[in-house]
Amino acid sequence: MNIHSYEKLWLGAAMLLIVVFIATITYGAVGLGVAMIDDAEETISPGDVFDDDRFGEPRVEQVGEDEYEVYVRAQTFTYNPNEIVVPENSEVTFYVTSPDVIHSFSVVGTNINTMVIPGEISTMTVEFDDPGEYGIVCNEYCGSGHHDMEGKLYVVSEDEFDLTELEADAAADEVDLEDDVEIEATVENRQLEAIDATIEFELGEESQTETVTIDGQETIERTFTVPAADLGEGDHDWTVTVDDYEESGTVSVVDGLEDDEDEESDDQDADDGDDTETDDDEATDDADTDGGDDE
Ligand code: CUA
Repeated sequence: MNIHSYEKLWLGAAMLLIVVFIATITYGAVGLGVAMIDDAEETISPGDVFDDDRFGEPRVEQVGEDEYEVYVRAQTFTYNPNEIVVPENSEVTFYVTSPDVIHSFSVVGTNINTMVIPGEISTMTVEFDDPGEYGIVCNEYCGSGHHDMEGKLYVVSEDEFDLTELEADAAADEVDLEDDVEIEATVENRQLEAIDATIEFELGEESQTETVTIDGQETIERTFTVPAADLGEGDHDWTVTVDDYEESGTVSVVDGLEDDEDEESDDQDADDGDDTETDDDEATDDADTDGGDDE
């Protein structure tokens, strides 16, 4: 049988194409590390995501000198945390899961791109060498807000990076003129290395500054106390600053607050009672004009 030379050429080209297709798929699976999410990976019940140690409070964690773990909750229609900050020259492992429907976690301009399936934890390890800014988008249609589902990933220089957390609040929002106003601050250093930080309290005209060293994975507490009489009656703004972080609020100084509180204390006794009491019991206690815990 005689095959025309053009026919031979096309047959050969078609064969070659099939070989090339198989080769690219193989390269994608082996060479680029593209993998399917499967049951071999860790699983989590979608209903437990909000109670989970990692995903209940999604965050960046330092696990080694240049190693970080990032826990992300992809949910309708946002990422939590919405802004992820990691340092340059780091190896970052992302753990992403969803409490509701299928989403994706795709970092634009990188090869981080995974489906996020309820019940599965998608895991990817990536190295970031240089500072940069990346958009995170969801490319699985997940509902009416799908087009708004986006986040940011910042890779910052080592000097700029920290895992410091500040929490501050007034011990009481209303203080009697004869008492002290107390502003309490908690500063957590979630990095492994110790950091130096400057804590600055401001309350009305009063202020206090302190430089502290916080060891790795340690939390310090500080209280700033000012006699309410020094501030005078009325509302007073307070601010606590730790480096770039700030918390603020307002405290009211009231003359004769204690006298008011004495009248209300019976009600408070009832509320402070046994936590296990049912709502019905509480309602009974509140209705009882004598208050007290005599039951
Ligand atoms: Cu989430 Cu689309």
